[in-house]
Amino acid sequence: MNTKILIIGACGQIGSELTLALRTIYGDSNVIASDIREGNDELMNSGPFEILDVTDKIALESIIRKYQIEEVYLMAAMLSATAEKFPEKAWQLNMNSLLSILDFAKDGLIKKIFWPSSIAVFGPTTPRENTPQQTVTEPTTVYGISKLAGERWCEYYFNNYDVDVRSIRYPGLISWKTNPGGGTTDYAVDIYHQAIQKGSYECFLSEGTILPMMYMDDAIKATIGIMQADKANIKERSSYNLAAISFAPEEVTAAIKKHIPEFTISYDPDFRQKIADSWPQSIDDAKARSDWGWKHEFDLASMTKAMLTNLKATIG
Ligand SMILES: NC(=O)c1ccc[n+]([C@@H]2O[C@H](COP(=O)([O-])OP(=O)(O)OC[C@H]3O[C@@H](n4cnc5c(N)ncnc54)[C@H](O)[C@@H]3O)[C@@H](O)[C@H]2O)c1
Repeated sequence: MNTKILIIGACGQIGSELTLALRTIYGDSNVIASDIREGNDELMNSGPFEILDVTDKIALESIIRKYQIEEVYLMAAMLSATAEKFPEKAWQLNMNSLLSILDFAKDGLIKKIFWPSSIAVFGPTTPRENTPQQTVTEPTTVYGISKLAGERWCEYYFNNYDVDVRSIRYPGLISWKTNPGGGTTDYAVDIYHQAIQKGSYECFLSEGTILPMMYMDDAIKATIGIMQADKANIKERSSYNLAAISFAPEEVTAAIKKHIPEFTISYDPDFRQKIADSWPQSIDDAKARSDWGWKHEFDLASMTKAMLTNLKATIG
């Protein structure tokens, strides 16, 4: 497979694992990583890398032309918690980057786009359990507003210009290789680090806060899966609901205690509690499963085992 791929935001939590996975499939030299900053050694040493500010449309176009890029994975964005601190900057980054890429596809410069949405498109008026694919979407965060607007633009460009853009509403993602980038579900990564390093964790969300989550391996599988699916099978051109597991802080604590019995948790909720309270607890992803064959592998127990094993080997 000689498809030329550009990943924008390749040094982030998802991009750094996605880049390596795509390089294994498509060949190191065919997958161009780019970001506003440099990434970890494994990413930097495994194939081509370009420093790119995605809001610089001229620089973006020149990289697309230089490598004759066919597919773009647009992972650069400002995430939920950080975006609440810088709403205007978040809106500009999250929207302008997407519109630039959609325009390049409309003009025939690139053939296919992956753009991630989020469970943040939902809000307090959305049914919180088993949230349907089509439902009320009244987000209350600037991040959620930008993701919802992005979904509408994706569908618009598909309907009016036949732009092949594909999207997933990721839940909170849990990984051990790269730290998360300022989201409301970040606690579910940090808790594993602290369990190993300190044996205790102070959680910024309260007990009982159930949120949809997913292990990174499953998220990467879904991302590559939707991009490799036949065009005719992608029937949702806004974004697909995607689900794996849902849990509250005390449940992940119980799962960690099976490996580290002395581990303890305490709670000190901050501004992120309000964001979490506006999001669903569980997601109905039947459409993704039937349209393009999505299936998750990791549950809370197997993810906890994988997180603790890998983190113990890397951070001790
Ligand atoms: N991680 C999650 O739990 C999660 C959940 C739902 C949706 N998402 C979405 O997935 C995508 C990737 O998320 P992530 O967790 O990897 O985020 P992240 O913050 O870890 O990574 C984003 C990357 O984009 C880069 N970046 C920022 N501004 C840039 C710019 N102007 N030009 C180029 N690069 C820039 C950053 O340096 C960073 O490496 C985002 O769209 C995010 O909204 C993530």
